[in-house]
Amino acid sequence: MLADDVTIFEKGRGEGFVDDYANHHKLVDFFSHTINIGQVLSVNKEKDMSKIIVITGAGSGIGLQLSKTLLLNELSIQVIAIGRRGNRLSQLQELFPKKVLTIEADLASPEGRKEVISTLSKYSHIDYLVHAAATIHPLNSIKNVKLDDWRQSQQINVEAPFFLTQLLLSKFNNSRVLFITSETIIHPVSGASSYCVSKAGQQMVYECFKTEFPVNQVAFGLVSPGMVDTPMQEQIRQADPNELPMIETISQLFKENKLLAPSLVADFLKWLLLTVNVNEFSQNMWDIYDVKHHSYWRNKNEN
Ligand SMILES: NC(=O)c1ccc[n+]([C@@H]2O[C@H](COP(=O)([O-])OP(=O)(O)OC[C@H]3O[C@@H](n4cnc5c(N)ncnc54)[C@H](OP(=O)(O)O)[C@@H]3O)[C@@H](O)[C@H]2O)c1
Repeated sequence: MLADDVTIFEKGRGEGFVDDYANHHKLVDFFSHTINIGQVLSVNKEKDMSKIIVITGAGSGIGLQLSKTLLLNELSIQVIAIGRRGNRLSQLQELFPKKVLTIEADLASPEGRKEVISTLSKYSHIDYLVHAAATIHPLNSIKNVKLDDWRQSQQINVEAPFFLTQLLLSKFNNSRVLFITSETIIHPVSGASSYCVSKAGQQMVYECFKTEFPVNQVAFGLVSPGMVDTPMQEQIRQADPNELPMIETISQLFKENKLLAPSLVADFLKWLLLTVNVNEFSQNMWDIYDVKHHSYWRNKNEN
């Protein structure tokens, strides 16, 4: 079962998913801290002046860590933190009372998005929008996927980023929108069809917005953050192995401490949002495992 799944995931790569996975993504280089100077990326040298950044999924995982990293490191920034669980958002707000505004809303519904837009009406300009909210569910083989669960997945993973971005268009000027994608758009995963389809859909959302708007109004970026140690990964590990055969491999990566720390991913996203030149930001998908850009954002002293 696992071998079949590995084959599907790796498009015919043979034995040992973990090793193949590591090679595939140059994890070996990554974990041994190889710095490849690579091509020289030009940087945006403009000074950061009181920026407004809207982050969905800010109550946990990558969205939460990105919020903290920005709030700790950037003096002039205000984070609008969005999620359904108000208690999670309040914890962030308590840490940075003057710099965080929370919006408890279900982004999968038009009412929830309306609530967000109404709260944001006091801001005439938004500098950054990061779509980190998503669901991994349902984790079922295709024959067991239920229509309601499928729709819920498409609503939060595709409809929400599309319509939230659409509703905020009038507030963008020299702004950036970042979509978070996944390896699954390249490699389908048995037992995760809803998520895979939704992430492929989200990639086209990114492409379509890019086609319709000039980068000086709003630049759209797409990033693959790698396999990150967040509640989403925890949920994957709790799935039924009969439904999600690759669970064993994922659990193994977790046991071997090979999931990336959210703080590392947040450093990467911060660099993409605040430092990379706007044309490079929106050119192609950014992959955290690509060592070419590591020397620009990785802390040389990290373990
Ligand atoms: N972790 C990984 O290995 C990995 C790999 C590739 C890509 N990604 C992507 O990275 C992004 C962040 O994921 P994560 O790993 O940080 O997972 P996470 O901790 O589960 O974060 C997802 C967030 O989305 C919010 N959310 C879910 N449904 C929502 C809804 N209907 N309305 C508003 N907010 C909603 C959740 O908060 P509430 O439940 O409180 O609403 C949660 O805070 C996702 O786009 C994910 O697909 C993650």
